[in-house]
Amino acid sequence: MSLAQLVSFAPKFLYSQLFVRLPWPKSDFTGQTVIITGSNTGLGLEAARHIVRLGAAKVILAVRTVSKGEAAAIDILETTGAIKNVIEIWQLDLSSYASVKAFGSRIWSLNRLDAFIQNAGILTTNFSVVEGNESIITTNVVSATLLALLVLPKLRQTATRFNVRTRLSFNGSDLQYIAKFKEADSSGSLFDALNRKEGVDMNDRYPVSKLLLLYTVRELAARSPLTPESNVIITYFTPGACKTEIFRQEKGWLEAAAIQAFNTLVCRTVEVGSRTVVYSVDPGLGIEAHGAFLMDNAVAS
Ligand SMILES: NC(=O)c1ccc[n+]([C@@H]2O[C@H](COP(=O)([O-])OP(=O)(O)OC[C@H]3O[C@@H](n4cnc5c(N)ncnc54)[C@H](OP(=O)(O)O)[C@@H]3O)[C@@H](O)[C@H]2O)c1
Repeated sequence: MSLAQLVSFAPKFLYSQLFVRLPWPKSDFTGQTVIITGSNTGLGLEAARHIVRLGAAKVILAVRTVSKGEAAAIDILETTGAIKNVIEIWQLDLSSYASVKAFGSRIWSLNRLDAFIQNAGILTTNFSVVEGNESIITTNVVSATLLALLVLPKLRQTATRFNVRTRLSFNGSDLQYIAKFKEADSSGSLFDALNRKEGVDMNDRYPVSKLLLLYTVRELAARSPLTPESNVIITYFTPGACKTEIFRQEKGWLEAAAIQAFNTLVCRTVEVGSRTVVYSVDPGLGIEAHGAFLMDNAVAS
């Protein structure tokens, strides 16, 4: 992060974290079917809890490990008092393109799909290759995009068939603002540059993945304008910094202490952060949200 980046990013970030009060979600999801990826824990779980409480007919927890999804479902049912068949658990592993494609096919078994929240993501400083690309790029960008392309036709179909506006959202980050993204300066394929282990800056990789995701969402929205045949709002949002398990990688004591201090002083609770996740697919979103970056439950750019 350069000094100029820090100076422009820090005040906006701190204002959002420390002074913005996000409203308790109240929108009506009655009768809707909503899918949330990575919803066994963290922001996805809390967003699923809200959406069940707000009356959705079906909430599908798209999770890597079915047993974790089942535990999450029990937790949501206990806290909301919802009836059991509101929640379904579907297996999805974003580190496997076969799993993503199988999930994309399964979506056609649904009668309707009103909202799809692409929430799952990883943060690691370990370099590894999955499905031919560095793992953060595969999970946070390529699989998220592939899944979106598979889901979009179903969202369009629901919008037309039920005369509603459907929504597709991506959980991004405001860390995109501080991505150094030196790979962009190399000649040749960007994927080749991102896959080069020598000299890689893995501290920069997560912000880079979210920046690439933002570019992808902007392009996707531009290629999928709002029309009567494609009444699907596509958004990219930041939940802000939240006290989740996203930094779950093993850490030294100094790093763990720094994260603990950051969590205590700056981070939102998971529930508060999840209000942004719910807002990203709010049934009342206006056309100005299409292709937009949402921050603090408003269009930021
Ligand atoms: N927390 C923050 O401060 C913050 C800030 C900005 C953006 N975000 C974004 O918010 C989203 C949710 O993260 P979180 O903070 O709630 O973290 P989290 O508690 O670690 O949750 C991440 C979720 O993603 C799932 N996941 C990871 N890899 C997966 C894969 N290959 N296939 C399917 N699911 C996978 C995890 O499943 P398992 O439990 O099975 O691993 C988990 O359910 C992420 O996209 C993250 O980048 C978070």
